[in-house]
Amino acid sequence: MVIAVPERSAASRFADLTARSGLCFGGDYNPEQWPADVWREDARLMREARVNLVTVGVFSWARYEPRPGAREFDWLDEVLDVLDEHGIGVDLATPTASPPPWLGARHPGTLPVDAEGVRLVPGSRNQFSPASSVYREHALAITTDLVVRYANHPAVRMWHVGNEFGQVCYGDEAAAAFREWLRDRYGSVEALDDAWGTAVWSQRYDDWSEVLPPRRMPYHPNPSQALDWRRFCSDQLLGLYRAQRDVIRAHDTERPVTTNLMGFFAGIDPWTWADDLDVVSDDAYPDPGDPQAPADAALTQDLVRSLGGGAPWLLMESATSAVSWRPHNLPKSPERSRLESLQAVARGADGVCFFQWRGSRSGAERFHSSMLPLAGADTRVHRGVRRLGADLERLRPVVGGRVEARVAIVVDWPSWWASGEVARPTDRLDAVDQLRAWHRVLWEHHVVCDLVPPARDLAGYDLVLVPQLYLLEEVAAQALTDAARRGAVLVVGPFTGVADERAHLRTGRFPALLRDVLGVSGEEHAALPDDGVPLDLAPRWPGRPGAGARASVLGELLRADGADVLATYRAGHLAGAPAVTRHGVGQGEAWYVGTVLDQRSTADVLLAALRASAAAPVLPGLPAHPGVEIVRRGDVLFLLNHSPDRALVPVPGPHVDLLTGEPVTGVVDLPGHDAVALVDGPIERTS
Ligand code: GAL
Repeated sequence: MVIAVPERSAASRFADLTARSGLCFGGDYNPEQWPADVWREDARLMREARVNLVTVGVFSWARYEPRPGAREFDWLDEVLDVLDEHGIGVDLATPTASPPPWLGARHPGTLPVDAEGVRLVPGSRNQFSPASSVYREHALAITTDLVVRYANHPAVRMWHVGNEFGQVCYGDEAAAAFREWLRDRYGSVEALDDAWGTAVWSQRYDDWSEVLPPRRMPYHPNPSQALDWRRFCSDQLLGLYRAQRDVIRAHDTERPVTTNLMGFFAGIDPWTWADDLDVVSDDAYPDPGDPQAPADAALTQDLVRSLGGGAPWLLMESATSAVSWRPHNLPKSPERSRLESLQAVARGADGVCFFQWRGSRSGAERFHSSMLPLAGADTRVHRGVRRLGADLERLRPVVGGRVEARVAIVVDWPSWWASGEVARPTDRLDAVDQLRAWHRVLWEHHVVCDLVPPARDLAGYDLVLVPQLYLLEEVAAQALTDAARRGAVLVVGPFTGVADERAHLRTGRFPALLRDVLGVSGEEHAALPDDGVPLDLAPRWPGRPGAGARASVLGELLRADGADVLATYRAGHLAGAPAVTRHGVGQGEAWYVGTVLDQRSTADVLLAALRASAAAPVLPGLPAHPGVEIVRRGDVLFLLNHSPDRALVPVPGPHVDLLTGEPVTGVVDLPGHDAVALVDGPIERTS
């Protein structure tokens, strides 16, 4: 009798790892850049810094296969053995992000072609076409040999497929693959013509062979074609990820497989990838010069956690100080680097890793910060790394803990893509900027939220925000409507419900499919003058009276069809038209914000919606403390002070700070750029 062994669940693979190791801590390790005698020193210093996981081999293909068909793994045997001897786990990468130069030299078709028709050359990285069958063949061959050799190596704890998938190729092989993808989606050229609306500008295709990627054209591309191209590129890369993942799974069913995503990166739709990752991993490089960086980091972390359905995720890459790829690279203090790491843990990460362990002497990243700078271990940066390693050990009780949210923000990649296509009312409206502005209000007021794709069942949420959903499908509109009817508060932003999934504009008054629930409808989208338009606030406006509310970027000629009007445009093309409305519906409410409000008015609306809902901040009643982030993960209450100034935050206690072991009662005294991780206490000492 054959007893079927059930497949392990994705999340349990990573949970098993962290249950053994505690929070992951480490970074990319590129030993091939250094002579073998450095490897032992690296391992010793890693151990001293409490590093327990390093990502090895991301860019090692040319070292494994210096000439076609060669296999040189001896050096990696030694690296993994040394790491294992020191108790350091390895996240072993498939080296497929950077093929050796010989591949492109012998097979130019493996090299990517850009939208202008230029074939890119080796000498950097990412020099492959995801559509190239020759590239795939070689990539899978080296992956197979690597996996077969190391699947049972005791150092290997996790697998890392490729690096930051995002490559695009517009070449002929990609064009053929695009046509195949379109054939699957539409079946016939006639259906494609219909979906792309090719009656416009004489674009009608008569045969599949005429269909191309949106390469450089004389004038604006067809937005439906451009949208399908984005979908195709994301799917094609996912296929490449899956092919490598499947090779790994054939030889190792136990260890988690992942790849490093890039937060709000437009190149792939992460909602369609998430189920294929055993742990969602993210690379994050907040700009130390950007005052919004902490709020934006929190937003990305909420996305990454939500992608995994709330399961712990992994900060796969970050920087200890400056990066080297911005035009001007501000450094980060060790305190800020630590704070950013703790922020990730607070918002659900079960590990913090950096690019990279030892800094590079040569190559394009020679000025990038690292965990072990070229100046050595006796440095400010490395001392900061050691301090963080100790902190993460103390945070072991956090492992596996979940961040619970009653607020959802809807975010959708195809909608973001389609709303950003050329030739629209304004190119100043960006769906992610709008999302940032709304999320920031929640973050500043210590309200935790999940991000959800459209059409997700919203049953667990009391407040549902839709900052912008240009492309709206029936099933998503139904989910939003159902949420409001059963008692949630729904807040919808401008330029929503404009198009269908083909990026065709819907006919009739907008926002299509949401008019009934919102009790409002519109007939014109109108770009607003550069200095915006003042709003007249109705007496029932929820914010402070007399505040000078302004609309900017885009407005809409709306008509209330049952909703209360809370603000109208005072002047200009939209004078007198509603800008903000509220509509009682079923057990809940539905608000519509038909413009981009100034940040203070955005806060007025969203906080009123929050009060009207059953959702609440982490510590209800606590006034906002500028720069202080408060989030609860499992039993641990994190307070993170992103400002350089000391903050005094009253927190009903008593508590113990896991980071210091000290009791905290009444008021948390938080120095600038510092954090506490509070658990109920104080712990009674029994001896
Ligand atoms: C990431 C990449 C790393 C390294 C890092 C530098 O995008 O995955 O390999 O280049 O940036 O910040």
